[in-house]
Amino acid sequence: MPAVTRHIGLSLGADICWPLAFEQILADARLELKLGADVVTFACERTAIEPVPLRPGCKYDLVVDRLTHWFSVQREWLKKCVLMDGLYVYNNPWSVQSFEKHSTYCAMAALGMPIPPTVMVPQKHYEPKPDLDYTLKAYARLFDLAGLGKAIGYPLFMKPYDGGGWQGVSQVDDEAHLRNAYEKSDRYLMHLQQAVAGYDLFVRAVGIGPQVRVMKYDPSQPLHGRYTTERDFCSAEDESVMVDTCLTINAFFGWDFNSVEALRRGGTFHPIDFANPCPDNQVNSKNYHWPWYVTSNLKWALFCAATRRPMRKTLDFEPFYAIARQDLPYREKLRGYAAIARERLQSEPFAGFCRQHLGPLEAAARRWFRSERCREAIRRKVAHVYPRHEVDDFTARCFGLVQLQLDREEQRGRP
Ligand SMILES: Nc1ncnc2c1ncn2[C@@H]1O[C@H](COP(=O)(O)OP(=O)(O)O)[C@@H](O)[C@H]1O
Ligand SMILES: [Mg+2]
Repeated sequence: MPAVTRHIGLSLGADICWPLAFEQILADARLELKLGADVVTFACERTAIEPVPLRPGCKYDLVVDRLTHWFSVQREWLKKCVLMDGLYVYNNPWSVQSFEKHSTYCAMAALGMPIPPTVMVPQKHYEPKPDLDYTLKAYARLFDLAGLGKAIGYPLFMKPYDGGGWQGVSQVDDEAHLRNAYEKSDRYLMHLQQAVAGYDLFVRAVGIGPQVRVMKYDPSQPLHGRYTTERDFCSAEDESVMVDTCLTINAFFGWDFNSVEALRRGGTFHPIDFANPCPDNQVNSKNYHWPWYVTSNLKWALFCAATRRPMRKTLDFEPFYAIARQDLPYREKLRGYAAIARERLQSEPFAGFCRQHLGPLEAAARRWFRSERCREAIRRKVAHVYPRHEVDDFTARCFGLVQLQLDREEQRGRP
């Protein structure tokens, strides 16, 4: 049988922990997949930052990318490889560039998702440009900020239209507070968004390909405690709504790896932030959930590389809008959107591929997460983020939570 090697590239920043897990588990699994007439093996390496000639010549079949949203050279290199070499990269770099928080609110609101009422307000200050004064004098209308606040209702959130990492986000409780926050917003282009006040559950649904994990989230905790270890915190139907929501968003925008924040009030989940392609997947914040992140990432990367899944270069919204136009209750529409998403994300072929080929990978992953190599990978990340005197404690804490997850999975047969 002809032997073929699929090349996986990891395009990284200060990721440190999960690439060690990814590389070592993949090496331990010693996969040799019989696919059609071929025996497929995998080679994995970290991509370098270097000059980019505009001609074909990418050695990778797939790149798992962590830089596109902030690092131009790698983003443009990846776009070149998609256009010239047929590279598969997650996530679609054009979509990451152009669909920031604002346009994702608009698109999902158009599909009927219960996004809280939101208004975008012109900036308080602008970057100086030659035509700025003329443009503002001619066209910038005075607007009634207090009236907008009143119409939306308090409390509300003021946050950048394209934000991330909670930067520039503030909760606003009254008119004085609103005026003050707007004064300080400077050159940020801001949304005012009604708070989902009195919510009874905050979840994050994270999708990697067709795999989704719904986690209970507690924003009041410090970073390492926000993703709680609770499971079974909502009904099967609630979970299914969030899985369908996450798959819909990710397939719509061509994102293989994305995180959706939603707040439940009165039985309805309101998504508030879901333009998070390339979400945090580091062990110091994910701890208990980290094995799921690493293993799911590996499985999707291997499936895409092994089967040479074609990269969908353009986004096709129309099938979603066709469902949106139908006279159906929202839950029915959401099922329809999610069916398109499952088809695009090859949910069934992926499940079959995992059953048939990835048993050795799962076993290698279980052994690795129990090992001293796992503890060492955690220590290296922790040492990068925390002061020296806290490294031992945080390493022990993260490693302990990873062990707790594995123990529970062994006892219950469920992640
Ligand atoms: N509409 C809202 N209702 C309630 N809480 C909100 C709302 N919008 C934002 N928040 C809170 O503020 C945090 C940061 O806002 P978010 O939209 O997630 O911005 P970022 O993109 O910076 O993460 C959220 O995790 C949540 O705790
Ligand atoms: Mg957020």
